[in-house]
Amino acid sequence: MTNVQAWNKMEDLHRRGLVRSIGVSSFRSEDIEELAKMWTFKPSINQIEVHPYCFHDPRMLKMAETCKKYDIAISPFTSLAPITRFSGGPVDGVVKRIGDAKAISSAQVFLSWANERTGGGPIITTASKEWQYQQILDSIDVELAHAELADIDNAGRKGGIKGKYTLPDWDAL
Ligand SMILES: NC(=O)c1ccc[n+]([C@@H]2O[C@H](COP(=O)([O-])OP(=O)(O)OC[C@H]3O[C@@H](n4cnc5c(N)ncnc54)[C@H](OP(=O)(O)O)[C@@H]3O)[C@@H](O)[C@H]2O)c1
Repeated sequence: MTNVQAWNKMEDLHRRGLVRSIGVSSFRSEDIEELAKMWTFKPSINQIEVHPYCFHDPRMLKMAETCKKYDIAISPFTSLAPITRFSGGPVDGVVKRIGDAKAISSAQVFLSWANERTGGGPIITTASKEWQYQQILDSIDVELAHAELADIDNAGRKGGIKGKYTLPDWDAL
């Protein structure tokens, strides 16, 4: 099924009052533009992988611009990948320094960074332990300074998209 066919079905659910809002996931800028040619109801949200190792990629930035143009919220997922999948990368030290200074964990710094960089979109995360849930909830109140956000951005860029860290599987679509 193509994106357009799937969207027609989603709109039908919306029209029938079975869902309040409808959204997309891992959509690139061009996917959104293609949908924009035919949608009656625009997506309320684009769920997408967001962490410092991928969000500087030009394709991600273009996606973010297009979401802004159509007032589509970006909902980050896999924002803890620098801890769970890519530990040992260049953001680790920077994020630990920022977390230590605020007496919060690196996970809380990453979640706050993702929230800030996507303009406050709802973060999708998960946890297997109660203390992790508590940290996730407490991260809502964390505020990062502009300089702290920039330090994380710069460290993320050093990860390199052609190296160990990759975007969502857009090239394989
Ligand atoms: N829409 C989509 O296409 C899409 C794609 C991917 C994922 N998702 C959804 O997004 C959600 C999150 O996925 P994700 O696993 O990629 O998210 P994530 O936020 O990057 O990682 C979550 C994992 O981080 C660890 N964690 C949680 N809190 C922590 C803390 N305070 N300190 C240290 N580690 C912590 C836990 O791993 P441990 O339990 O191993 O410690 C947890 O399972 C899931 O519900 C998933 O279904 C959606």
